[in-house]
Amino acid sequence: MNNLAFTTAEVFADCLENTAVNAPFETARAVATAAVADIEVTGLTKTFGGSVQVLRDIHFSIPSGQAVALIGHNGSGKSTLLRCCLRLIEPSAGTINLLNRPFSNLSGKALRNLRSQVGFIFQRHNLVPRLSALTNVLHGVQARKKGPFTWFHWMAAQKDREEAMLQLERVGLAHLALRRVNQLSGGESQRVAIARALMQQPKMVMADEPAASLDPVAGEEVMQLFLRCIKEEGLTLLFVSHNLEHALRYADRVIGLRGGKLELDAPASTLNLASLRKIYG
Ligand SMILES: Nc1ncnc2c1ncn2[C@@H]1O[C@H](COP(=O)(O)OP(=O)(O)O)[C@@H](O)[C@H]1O
Ligand SMILES: [Mg+2]
Repeated sequence: MNNLAFTTAEVFADCLENTAVNAPFETARAVATAAVADIEVTGLTKTFGGSVQVLRDIHFSIPSGQAVALIGHNGSGKSTLLRCCLRLIEPSAGTINLLNRPFSNLSGKALRNLRSQVGFIFQRHNLVPRLSALTNVLHGVQARKKGPFTWFHWMAAQKDREEAMLQLERVGLAHLALRRVNQLSGGESQRVAIARALMQQPKMVMADEPAASLDPVAGEEVMQLFLRCIKEEGLTLLFVSHNLEHALRYADRVIGLRGGKLELDAPASTLNLASLRKIYG
């Protein structure tokens, strides 16, 4: 039972394992810096093992309420960038402001507290397979409170259990609340992961290819539902996508990495599939 006494952030940490469209780039940057930024990344660089430079001098900021898609080749550094933004991977250089607070130098409880205000959704759901959907959603409350009453739905405060049920209803899974996650489909599991992230009451959400392990129909359903919830809550979103149509359809703005450098930053309304494909060379 002790191994369930984790914070949501610790669950996440455990789970670790010239195409530039210049005019829109400037436009998007101007828009991003004019409004209050929920995340502001300056000069972020990541080198693994002292020699392999994966991210080079990355600058971007995301204003509150904006949905941003991050695209790029396999190996271009998308997952590393997302994880560096939350310091699940420690950047080698650069600064991060998260939710209007300097994030780069925080440690311990202060780091965990700020990180817990960001929901994170992985490509594969990272739920606890042998526990029910309801208990997995309830674990999202650990971003706000600790202790054994957050470990299982049947031990939880009625208010928290009801809130977890409401989140499951939002993602259309109330009827499967007591089913173990290892008996759910990929799409259903990803919807539980979305409900768990919402249960955190986050201010911002990051998602690393949330639909990539799903078939096209389930992937589309999950993305539609995901974005509906994000927009209903007015949350800021940064999501990695391999699916360029998803990037155009669901994001307000698209940023693109090539060889570890940010080479595209433009409003989605100014882009099309052909312009996005350029980032892939
Ligand atoms: N822990 C690590 N040590 C060394 N290299 C790594 C590590 N993690 C990722 N990389 C390398 O960094 C590059 C970017 O990886 P990643 O961020 O996963 O790319 P993407 O998500 O765009 O496919 C890859 O070349 C990968 O091999
Ligand atoms: Mg990746």
